[in-house]
Amino acid sequence: MTDSTKTLTILGNLLTLNFKESVNVLDFLNAKKVSIAQSCGGNGTCTTCRFFVREGVENFSPRSELEIERATERDFLFNERLACQTEITGSAVIEIPDED
Ligand code: FES
Repeated sequence: MTDSTKTLTILGNLLTLNFKESVNVLDFLNAKKVSIAQSCGGNGTCTTCRFFVREGVENFSPRSELEIERATERDFLFNERLACQTEITGSAVIEIPDED
């Protein structure tokens, strides 16, 4: 039998979380009680839920139209994503920046 467990490692927190199915990043972090800002409650308007992909950039969903708008307005780097607008589909390493 193949083990379909995937991992999300969060730099700085020294934390590695396991998951099996694709999941919204913000929902997953909230469920695992990982601290991440989310001022607009996941509506894709505040950009406080930013994170940086450090490994596994191919294991995240493409940007939604809403995220493209925010990323353009704020000059996001290619690996800078909004947790509330992003699904993780495979193993990856991320970094959550300190709140400004
Ligand atoms: S929680 Fe506001 S943009 Fe993600």
